[in-house]
Amino acid sequence: MKTLLITGGCGFIGANFVRLLLETRPNLKLVVLDKMTYAARRDNLPEQHPNLEVVIGDIANLELMRHLVTSQQVDTIVNFAAETHVDQSILNPFVFSQTNVIGTHVLLEVAREHKLRFHQISTDEVYGTIEGDHHSLESDILAPRSPYSASKAAGDQLVQSYFVTYGLQTTITRGSNNVGAYQFLEKVVPLFTTNAMLDLPLPVYGDGLQMRDYTHVSDHCTGILTVLERGTIGEIYNVGAGQEITNMAMLEVLLETVGKPRSLIRHVTDRAGHDRRYSVSVKKLEALGWKAQYQPKEAVAAAAKWYFEHPEYWQPVRESSSFQAYYNRQYAKRLEVKV
Ligand SMILES: NC(=O)c1ccc[n+]([C@@H]2O[C@H](COP(=O)([O-])OP(=O)(O)OC[C@H]3O[C@@H](n4cnc5c(N)ncnc54)[C@H](O)[C@@H]3O)[C@@H](O)[C@H]2O)c1
Repeated sequence: MKTLLITGGCGFIGANFVRLLLETRPNLKLVVLDKMTYAARRDNLPEQHPNLEVVIGDIANLELMRHLVTSQQVDTIVNFAAETHVDQSILNPFVFSQTNVIGTHVLLEVAREHKLRFHQISTDEVYGTIEGDHHSLESDILAPRSPYSASKAAGDQLVQSYFVTYGLQTTITRGSNNVGAYQFLEKVVPLFTTNAMLDLPLPVYGDGLQMRDYTHVSDHCTGILTVLERGTIGEIYNVGAGQEITNMAMLEVLLETVGKPRSLIRHVTDRAGHDRRYSVSVKKLEALGWKAQYQPKEAVAAAAKWYFEHPEYWQPVRESSSFQAYYNRQYAKRLEVKV
């Protein structure tokens, strides 16, 4: 592994992963390819670094991907690029198939042509809602329930098919709900932290008792790196804290961190098809020597603290007309209705 093509590297997790590699793997050359959608920010990455090049482009552009891989002598693709927000996938589902399915397929094809190592960043949402006290295993049947998770599951299936059919050197990680620095404000922890700081209501979907394994993004990134360096080819690894809390518990931690009252919580109409519980077993990844450093409540507190301390990062986004249009579309009506 010498030159990595990191797609989606100007987004939340991709940028944290690039920063981790720049700090800990000085011999690697990193080429970031990003379409710069609304979720991306160039300033999520260092402005300049001798080991880093940033290219704007779409993973679904086959000719561009071919050109990039040859001109940069890429030997490994790590695919973070995706449309990632479930609520957006309910409002505008088609772009999710275009990037998460077609885009992934284009990258696999280029990886096959050039015999590259390929790592896919997937999600625990592909397992669907988890009943009882089961913890999802990598071998579980996939049961996605939103356009987002369905498109990610399709991407995973394509990756597995390229391993089986062509012997492509693939691995997949399935991360649970990530929190931390540089996350776009539509996602729940930055949204609710910044709402609380602005004394705005926190629109909680339904009863707020959905269970989520909140994982610090730094744990996710070390998990991905562990699999890239020590994972078995053809295998899938879950990445998470390995335990869940309710969304209400997440809110309590967040409000306490920024010193705001519970009276800001407003229960609103639930998300359509909202999965009740996600839970992953991380034993397979732990067997490679990786361990999460943050429990879910610690991860949420650390993330909320980061937004509390960095208003210069999020204030311009909150004030932008595109974010306000999305926020109103998603929450204005919900906040009017008493549930
Ligand atoms: N955020 C989470 O909690 C979480 C959990 C598990 C897995 N994941 C997965 O991790 C990956 C990264 O998620 P994130 O939270 O950083 O998302 P994000 O939305 O913050 O970033 C996604 C990035 O991909 C880029 N992108 C989108 N379409 C593209 C295209 N066609 N070509 C090139 N770039 C494109 C965007 O511009 C953006 O920079 C995704 O694959 C997601 O499914 C996310």
